[in-house]
Amino acid sequence: MIDFAGSDFFSEFWHYYVAAFTVLGILFSLWLLSSQTTKKLAEGEQAEMMAPTWDGDLQELNNPLPRWWMWMFYGLIFFGIGYLVLYPGMGKYAGTLGWTSFKEWKDDKDAVDAEFDKVMGPYKNQSIMAVAADPKAREMGQNLFMTYCSQCHGSSAQGGKGFPNLTDAQWLFGGTPEDIQASISGGRIAEMPPMGDAVGGEQGAKEVANYVLSLGGKPHDAALAAAGQAKFAACAGCHGENGKGMAAASFPDLTDDAWQYGGSESAIAQSIIKGRKGGMPAQSHASGGVLNDSKIHLLAAYVWGLGGGKQPAASAPAVVAAPASN
Ligand code: HEC
Ligand code: HEC
Repeated sequence: MIDFAGSDFFSEFWHYYVAAFTVLGILFSLWLLSSQTTKKLAEGEQAEMMAPTWDGDLQELNNPLPRWWMWMFYGLIFFGIGYLVLYPGMGKYAGTLGWTSFKEWKDDKDAVDAEFDKVMGPYKNQSIMAVAADPKAREMGQNLFMTYCSQCHGSSAQGGKGFPNLTDAQWLFGGTPEDIQASISGGRIAEMPPMGDAVGGEQGAKEVANYVLSLGGKPHDAALAAAGQAKFAACAGCHGENGKGMAAASFPDLTDDAWQYGGSESAIAQSIIKGRKGGMPAQSHASGGVLNDSKIHLLAAYVWGLGGGKQPAASAPAVVAAPASN
């Protein structure tokens, strides 16, 4: 993670560079101001007229700077020095108040979170399935989804290439309320190594891709599929002999229609040759994300309620817990 509290400088040099220019700038301003404000009109002395005049009647006099103006400039310089003592500004010097923009952002964010939590917090005491049945909670969940999830999973949550559809009953990491909550909180990474060499390059990948299509009962080239059958042994360890995957180990079913990376012959061949590695970023505070528990609870309920949610394994027949009354 980025260390927000640390220095912004990658090398000590820039710290001294910035600090030196800041000090020189202040000294230069002081010198400039004092050198330009030493002259004072003596008693009865008149300011000289500078030649020439413009347009016949616009004249320039060399009056000295008014004193109040001069003191205002000195005041500004000393304000600047005071500021640099209190706040960061001199290279990496942090300032005596210890102010950081990250801290300020975090304080503001915590304050807003606390405000939201008055509304969202109470749902945490209800089961995810109960929350999913509450229209008001679903609306909040949807708003959160639009903000934090739609850029990857799409605003309808149906995913896209590389990003799983969250509305179907096919889950790579499990579809119970707990599974979904865990996917969101901690993030997920499923990884398939590049298998091009194992299947004998492009041609082999094409053959295995056709065999995969045949396993799912989809249109395929029978001759290529036959040639790919033996090579599928390299895949069976993870995706199973029959290509149905292993839900418990996040190895996807290759026989259904839920493709994360595309189900055409060429998309499957690309999955084989390149390997695949999805990355769902962790969202919870504890994992370095920006969402607190209340928001994750609402999001899990929203996703669970999109249509593909599964019953929790332990309490299989017990369906929806009664909503807590409040
Ligand atoms: C940066 C892109 C990105 C963002 C943002 C993102 N996800 Fe994901 N999500 C993914 C990817 C990629 C996967 C699949 C990971 C894999 O295949 O290894 C995934 C997987 C999931 C899964 C598991 C799906 C399964 O089949 O088991 C859930 C649930 C999920 N995301 C929900 C969310 C929610 C809710 C949010 C918003 C808080 C969110 N995601 C934000 C990219 C993202
Ligand atoms: C070490 C385990 C492993 C092996 C071996 C392996 N895979 Fe995979 N495969 C995975 C995982 C894990 C994913 C999911 C990657 C992700 O979600 O980003 C995956 C994803 C895929 C996908 C994409 C599925 C989709 O929804 O788009 C295809 C196609 C695929 N594998 C085919 C194969 C074939 C064919 C072989 C044999 C040549 C093979 N895999 C070998 C683990 C494996």
